[in-house]
Order: sequence, then structure tokens, then C-alpha cells
Amino acid sequence: MSDKPTAIGEIIAAHAAKEGPMLPILHDVQGLFGCVDGEAEAIIAAGLNLSRADVHGVVSFYHDFTHQADPRPVVQICRAESCKARGVEGLMQAATAAAGDRVKLHTVYCLGLCSSGPNARVGDNLFARLDAAGLAQVIENA
Ligand code: FES
Repeated sequence: MSDKPTAIGEIIAAHAAKEGPMLPILHDVQGLFGCVDGEAEAIIAAGLNLSRADVHGVVSFYHDFTHQADPRPVVQICRAESCKARGVEGLMQAATAAAGDRVKLHTVYCLGLCSSGPNARVGDNLFARLDAAGLAQVIENA
């Protein structure tokens, strides 16, 4: 993996031509480093020709972004409409119990597998058609 400034620069370059590149950049940085810390904010601000306060304001506003990395494994669970229609809400209580304090559950809104939900993701691995036992297994293995 390239160093942090280089990696963030590549993320910025990938999104810079988009309208409203800030959020996709922040999501990618959060995903890659587990946080958007002050160093990342400064690099993003310079890359988008904004003030660091502009970037910090966005990072602070959205719950998706954190300033410090959380060492726990993360299981992303899709709770968007298609996965809701396929029963994800009925799995959440057991998922929360299975996760305890060891695993961080993170709600996301669509993993791109809408017709085969409920879905979850751990790192680059996607898990589809989950029932309570399947999701508990995903959490246990995270
Ligand atoms: S709605 Fe869950 S993957 Fe799209």
C-alpha cells in the first residue's frame, strides 16, 4: 500500500471531477484508514482547495466519519429499503447481541446486492441472503 498522503491523493484524484466530491472522498478515506484524522482532513482540504475547517465541519457532521480509528472489526449491515423488505430489521437484535463489544456494527444504505438481501459486508467480502444464523456467523468470524 502506498503511504497515507499518496493514497489520499489517489482517492481525491479519483473523485475530483465529480460534482460534490467531498463525501465520496471522505467515505473512501474512512474505509481505507478507519478514520478521517486531522492529517487526512488537511490533505483533503488542500486537494479540494478548501479550508481544513470546511472539511472538518463535514467530518464532524456525519456519523459515518470518525477522527480516530476503532480497532474493532466492522460488520456493515445494509438497512436500506430492499434489505428492509427482505427482513433485515428482524435480524438486528440478534446481531447486536452477537456483536457485543467485540465487533462494531455499522449501518449502511445499499451494498449493491439489493435483490439478494439481507446483506452485510466485512472488508471486501460481501455476504448475501443472510438469516439470523448466517449474520451471527458473519459477526463471529469478523
Ligand atoms: S438495499 Fe441492501 S444491498 Fe441494496
